[in-house]
Amino acid sequence: MTRRAASVDVVDQKRDSSPAPKAIPRHLAIIMDGNGRWAKKRFMPRVEGHRNGAKTVRMVVEECRKLGVRHLTLFAFSTENWRRPEEEVGGLMRLFVQHLESELELLLKNGIRLRAMGDLSRLPAAVRELLERNEERTKDLTGMDLILAVSYGGRDELVHAFRKLGRAVKAGELDPETVTEELVSRSLYLPDVPDPDLLIRTSDETRISNFLLWQLAYAEIVVSPELWPDFSRDEFHRCLHVFAGRNRRFGLTQEQASAS
Ligand code: FPP
Repeated sequence: MTRRAASVDVVDQKRDSSPAPKAIPRHLAIIMDGNGRWAKKRFMPRVEGHRNGAKTVRMVVEECRKLGVRHLTLFAFSTENWRRPEEEVGGLMRLFVQHLESELELLLKNGIRLRAMGDLSRLPAAVRELLERNEERTKDLTGMDLILAVSYGGRDELVHAFRKLGRAVKAGELDPETVTEELVSRSLYLPDVPDPDLLIRTSDETRISNFLLWQLAYAEIVVSPELWPDFSRDEFHRCLHVFAGRNRRFGLTQEQASAS
């Protein structure tokens, strides 16, 4: 699928001098990695890395909106991250509160709908309430979905989905023999969101770390060497150009894929 950059009213258009990548992912997922190493290199507390990472989040959100990405999913906090030192978890939660308060304007101005996915029941009330408020305030916006994966684990999401299906079987509403891939997809946290076309992970790490396990089945993966706070607009465009040059075959032969 090839899509041209959408013409939208977003900030930073003045800096837009490089040619837009030829293929824009409809759904882009990002593992924002390297905040801790960024801080360590500067003898700073880890939370400073996250604080600087939040600036990159803003750049990427604006850029995706400008380019016409339809869904952007950011891995902001995993189910495993709860085991980090209390100071770091607390610092991250405070950062989420600040970010959710300060960025609502940007979402509204740019037509961006905020959505959250994960086990939100584990979040502090302040974070959960702000997520809910921003989701509610932006629910009718159609420019782009910004999906924050918080307290999220891919296996945890699948467990939730299987429990849901199990309850339906138990209630006599579902014949197990009729369970399809389509039905599993529809039982996930955000059933209306298509699978990611592209996964970007920063800081040279090549794992998917329990992120979107089901949905990433056919995603292209691009790894950037940059630590997340250093991930620049140019580097982001480079990743998109790499994606645009990929040959996606979805299990078909080259001839079949070209024909379709
Ligand atoms: C991984 O880097 C990053 C996280 C666990 C948190 C990501 C959060 C942000 C970028 C903060 C702002 C986000 C939003 C949505 C406001 P790491 O700490 O594992 O880095 P390391 O591997 O170098 O230790």
